[in-house]
Amino acid sequence: MKIKIENLIAGLREIPDRDFTCDNVYQFLGENPVDIDSISNYFFWSKNFYTRNLLYKDDRFELMAICWNKGQVSKIHNHADQKCWMMVVGGKLHGQNFAVEDIDESRNFCKLKETDMFDLSDCLAAKVELEEPIHQILNLPEFDEPAVSLHIYSKPFDTCLSYCRDTDSFKKVNLCYTSIRGKLCDGITL
Ligand SMILES: [Fe+2]
Repeated sequence: MKIKIENLIAGLREIPDRDFTCDNVYQFLGENPVDIDSISNYFFWSKNFYTRNLLYKDDRFELMAICWNKGQVSKIHNHADQKCWMMVVGGKLHGQNFAVEDIDESRNFCKLKETDMFDLSDCLAAKVELEEPIHQILNLPEFDEPAVSLHIYSKPFDTCLSYCRDTDSFKKVNLCYTSIRGKLCDGITL
């Protein structure tokens, strides 16, 4: 039985701070698959980039729907010390985790190696392991369809570290929303 997004948000808000842990929220998401029809009003699609659509935000967490066209992929990134979870509500996504092989922060050098990978679809939930937080999310061309994922980040954050394997480097990048509560943000061209 799938639930409406309003009910997912209400349920997340009811979790006491002390219980808002990686495992508990992961379990909560696993038990509460979301009906995609209850969020379709928030979707925006671009041929050029995946879109980050904010549905809800408070001091403790933000909830976003990310719309991935066929073949669109995230950068390799991490979320610093933030917790994050995701659920794929439409289509299918591939995740690749990375470990640091060698790092020299003084010159923004970082060599990564691939570790485990996973596929997500059908409202399967995933969490980012804090011990190994570097990852990439891909809507692989062979999946041959758009995908939508829900993401919860706690606390909300507006920067992340982005890694480039061609140059073995990393940098801090600013994150922005494509839309907020169903309204396209100023300055965004889809
Ligand atoms: Fe991520």
